Amino acid sequence: MQTLLKELPRDLDQKRLPRHVAVIMDGNGRWAKRRGLPRIIGHRQGVDALKNLLRCCDDWGIEALTAYAFSTENWGRPNEEVDFLMTLFERVLMRELQEMMEENVRIEFVGNLAVLPRSLQTQIARSMTLTKENTGIQFTVATNYGGRQEILQAARAIATQVQQGNIQPDEIDEALFSQHLYTANVCDPDLLIRTSGEMRLSNFLLWQMAYAEIYITDALWPDFDRGEFHRALSNYQQRSRRFGKI
Ligand code: FPP
Repeated sequence: MQTLLKELPRDLDQKRLPRHVAVIMDGNGRWAKRRGLPRIIGHRQGVDALKNLLRCCDDWGIEALTAYAFSTENWGRPNEEVDFLMTLFERVLMRELQEMMEENVRIEFVGNLAVLPRSLQTQIARSMTLTKENTGIQFTVATNYGGRQEILQAARAIATQVQQGNIQPDEIDEALFSQHLYTANVCDPDLLIRTSGEMRLSNFLLWQMAYAEIYITDALWPDFDRGEFHRALSNYQQRSRRFGKI
């Protein structure tokens, strides 16, 4: 039974919270397998865990949450699982949009969205348009996302600008480059959480994660609750972030 701490736990320092948390939600399949259930049940349970984390971030005053829902490599999974995930994303969006509006959440999808099923693209566009003016937590869902691909598309866009004479090569700095990434209007993640003990970045936010603190837990994603998040934040607050300095 998880305790629902609506207020920030007292041992955490409000002033030293991460502004932006990113999550790699690993272990849905294993969670289901351990219970003798099909993998898709794990994904369904994973949606609940993500919803709870979003609400928790909002309650505790974190400005942005980014979740890796589907990587460019995930197309390699069995067709039935890919189809299930696409339908799941669409249903979740339809079901949760009203509540996200009420809770003032601004949702954004990043990745190569143009190749997603048409009906999912429609729901994505609708949810982004409707929540665009919301001023609460920024919730970014990386779908058909790949970090290297994102960097390549930014490089191509900048090269086109140079070719057209709009900018000079020596004007290309980190700030300009960041402006051409999908995440142009959100600060870089301060904390990356990955569940199920995997210790990889898996092509997630490669540029943006340059100085992120990484927290790995053995918990499987569907079991990642407020207690687990509290532990991740405590651990984060014990670190000294030096950004390469001493
Ligand atoms: C990783 O577990 C999880 C995924 C690939 C899908 C995660 C997606 C969600 C929780 C839904 C998010 C939805 C919206 C619309 C915001 P895994 O399958 O890799 O598990 P395993 O490592 O145990 O095999």
